Amino acid sequence: MKNQIISLLVLICVPLLLHAEDGHNLWLRGKSTASVNVVCSKHSATIDIAEQELHQEWQGKANATVVLTIKPNKFIKGDGYMLSDDGVQANTDLGILYGVFALLRHQQTGNPIRDVIISNPSYERRILDHWDNLDGTIERGYAGRSIFWHDGKDSLAVTEKDKKLWQAYARANASIGINGAVLDNVNASPLILTTAYLNRVKAIAAVLRPYGIRTYLSVNFASPIVIGGLKTADPLNPEVQKWWKDKAREIYGLIPDFGGFLVKANSEGQPGPQNYGRTHADGANVMADALRPFGGIVMWRAFVYSANDKDRAKQAYSEFMPLDGKFRDNVIIQVKNGPIDFQPREPFSPLFGAMKQTSVMSELEITQEYLGQAIHLVFLAPMWKEFLKSDTYQEGKGSTVARCTDGTIFSQKYTAIAGVSNIGSDTNWCGHPFAQANWYAFGRLAWNDQLSSDQIADEWLKLTFMPTASEDKTKSTVLPIVWDIKFLKPVKQMMLESREAAVNYMMPLGLHCLFAPENHYGPGPWWAPKYVRKDWTAPYYHQADTAGIGFDRTENGSDAVSQYHEPLRSLFNDVNTCPEIYLLWFHHLPWTYKLKSGRTLWDALCYHYQEGLDQVREFQKTWDRVQPYVDSERFYVVQSKLRQQCENAQVWKDACLLYFQQFSRMPIPYDIERPV
Ligand code: GCU
Repeated sequence: MKNQIISLLVLICVPLLLHAEDGHNLWLRGKSTASVNVVCSKHSATIDIAEQELHQEWQGKANATVVLTIKPNKFIKGDGYMLSDDGVQANTDLGILYGVFALLRHQQTGNPIRDVIISNPSYERRILDHWDNLDGTIERGYAGRSIFWHDGKDSLAVTEKDKKLWQAYARANASIGINGAVLDNVNASPLILTTAYLNRVKAIAAVLRPYGIRTYLSVNFASPIVIGGLKTADPLNPEVQKWWKDKAREIYGLIPDFGGFLVKANSEGQPGPQNYGRTHADGANVMADALRPFGGIVMWRAFVYSANDKDRAKQAYSEFMPLDGKFRDNVIIQVKNGPIDFQPREPFSPLFGAMKQTSVMSELEITQEYLGQAIHLVFLAPMWKEFLKSDTYQEGKGSTVARCTDGTIFSQKYTAIAGVSNIGSDTNWCGHPFAQANWYAFGRLAWNDQLSSDQIADEWLKLTFMPTASEDKTKSTVLPIVWDIKFLKPVKQMMLESREAAVNYMMPLGLHCLFAPENHYGPGPWWAPKYVRKDWTAPYYHQADTAGIGFDRTENGSDAVSQYHEPLRSLFNDVNTCPEIYLLWFHHLPWTYKLKSGRTLWDALCYHYQEGLDQVREFQKTWDRVQPYVDSERFYVVQSKLRQQCENAQVWKDACLLYFQQFSRMPIPYDIERPV
């Protein structure tokens, strides 16, 4: 009871006391323990930041000298860097900054540099997509309001508070290598391209620039009509073409390093080229031509589906494959990791590797729209690794999604990766202390897609939780080895298991889209009102009836399997070879179908739901045990959120099993509840 009261007080008071701009330094908590001399022959805003970071965070030898050298080296690519014990070398100023952050990270995680390290980015553009609306709300945002936009009078005035916050944001991003930010929602307001808003973008860009972060904007395809006063937005209309060219010139006049546009067109009611009988390529190219003289790019989204198709999972591929090779070289098709929509688990979208003459980039969702939002503890690196490592077989074995998009297999003019941001102006930036790890993981993987989830979790936990001398004296007296065993190991294990746990208690065995409508948080496998489009209802996806459950995407069903390259097509098509994690994604099977474990499908489903719940119960125990090693603020916040997650997992299990049981007509196995 006492604990509950404390945790309630913490939950109520902390958000009132703390804001993102004061106090929450995310993983950047290091404080210098010694002085350092920095030698650099060049000065620029970016180099100055690098020097300042060294002075502020140095934890190496006292009075050491660090030499920053900007000199081309054939092993260093783009903004990559070379590290040694006493220096950083790079081709660019930004490379120096990244190198300095890496050097400090090595010190702070107790991982000294023994040899020379060269690190080059996997993707040239590493971008956060903010789904921030111009009134300050955030679509699928669970961490408060936008850090870029406000509503009300004077909403466009740039204050010192704004700038401080943007700077803290830029610093955090630069520390993990993120170099781009799309500042507004993909469901874009045409107003963003008016001069008043562009002036605010200019101010944001000025703060982000020294940290190497370019600004991008989501734009509305109908902008030439809505703010340009034209009668059409037809991309083949010369006036429309001129409008985009003039707009591009205006933007670059204000923001010379502007990155480009992100476009959601002919998707979920947004206008697009198809309104005029034109293709996605026509639409993307008109913008690409306008941006080209200034070096800008267009990220054109492949998130399209219509109400009429029999299988939503097939639509992006069907619509975009015929356009392969028809896009300008400064267009990148931005594809969500899975064919549907950021579900807890999906196979990779078949567009990866298939579009061979068009640049393609992945879109990941950092904000946990379908993974418990800012309440559930779900570490997403394992999900993204599973995706990036998926073999598409498009250019033979080993054609992983990562290699198909990072320039290894296809020579794309630009390589990029985007993550839908989970950042808001709330306490601790992301709503849940552990949601910060997902921001961190996205940046680290975008920089180096070979890093393991374990390495990322390890780094993040050390940077975020390891006691430092400048903090609470009692905590900092804990011996590092004790901290490793008592805190790091169990908490890391919890993080690494957390995504599989969520899949288990939400939608195991390839099930997807079982959510309650609109908010995508709790279960709603029954949700199917008559007035709603079929592909927005849950039974469209699980197809449960007394005969069985699952979406038949085999050759005898929707034939979505045929969009995958062999041997995947046959592998997915055959129920005996289809990986169990995707079973009900590709197959409709009887409740009595026997899995490899010997269990019936129904029993297996029950065990998975129970396992997910048990896993969260274990997470609670793990967390309770680490109390001596965490400050009370974060301890109680996480404890309370885990409690809610556990209740939710129970609801997911009960709701789904009771609903499906009306079809299976089979009992829940008596032994699924482990003795407590
Ligand atoms: C999901 C999400 C929407 C979003 C859309 C998109 O469907 O629920 O809020 O607009 O994806 O990615 O465009």
